[in-house]
Amino acid sequence: FQSRSLDGLRVVITAGPTREALDPVRYISNHSSGKMGFSIAAAAAEAGAITTVIAGPVHLSTPDSVHRIDVTSASEMCAATLSLIDDCDIFIATAAVADYRPVSSAEQKIKKTTDTLNITLIKNVDIVSTVAARDDSPFTVGFAAETQDVERYARDKMQRKKLDMIIANDVANSDIGFNSNDNAVTIFSKCGDSEAIAQTSKQQLGRLLIAKIATKVH
Ligand code: C5P
Repeated sequence: FQSRSLDGLRVVITAGPTREALDPVRYISNHSSGKMGFSIAAAAAEAGAITTVIAGPVHLSTPDSVHRIDVTSASEMCAATLSLIDDCDIFIATAAVADYRPVSSAEQKIKKTTDTLNITLIKNVDIVSTVAARDDSPFTVGFAAETQDVERYARDKMQRKKLDMIIANDVANSDIGFNSNDNAVTIFSKCGDSEAIAQTSKQQLGRLLIAKIATKVH
């Protein structure tokens, strides 16, 4: 049973990977499946929120009652996010946004005429930091995938990005996290408290995270 704990609130969630084009046929991306973000979107809608998921390229169907905006690159994900953020109460950044993109995408397919090929990358805008830095920012939640010192890095990231909450998972454990159907996380809140959630399905975890967020926004 899921209570309507977010009734009428507007929730925006980024999910999945981004693709950064090298040329018309090639790109840089990562293994994010989007499952965690889509599970959170489903749980937010179940809890009564007006929910939009901004999805990178994923192979997932849209949960019931969730609005969906499909994007490809980090720049597109950022633009879609900013277009919704004035009317947003809670922003949850689950997307594995590419940190860098090629400075320019070749107009034609790159030919293999040389033995080495240099590609210069430039940093992408940090979407969740941009949202959190706004004057009238929504309740902002980020994720931290770490392989060591999870708590220290997660708390540091929460502070640096000015987040209200960060959800940390240890990606050194291959049973959970990226691409898996399960996850185990620790939730750290700005006020200093933390809560560990043992390995469970991403569907169940989405509900637990939404319940936790609901206690913080009311
Ligand atoms: O700095 P790092 O990539 O580890 O931070 C992860 C968190 O920041 C996630 O919540 C991710 O969605 C968000 N992020 C973002 N825009 C970026 C990079 C990361 O919103 N360009």
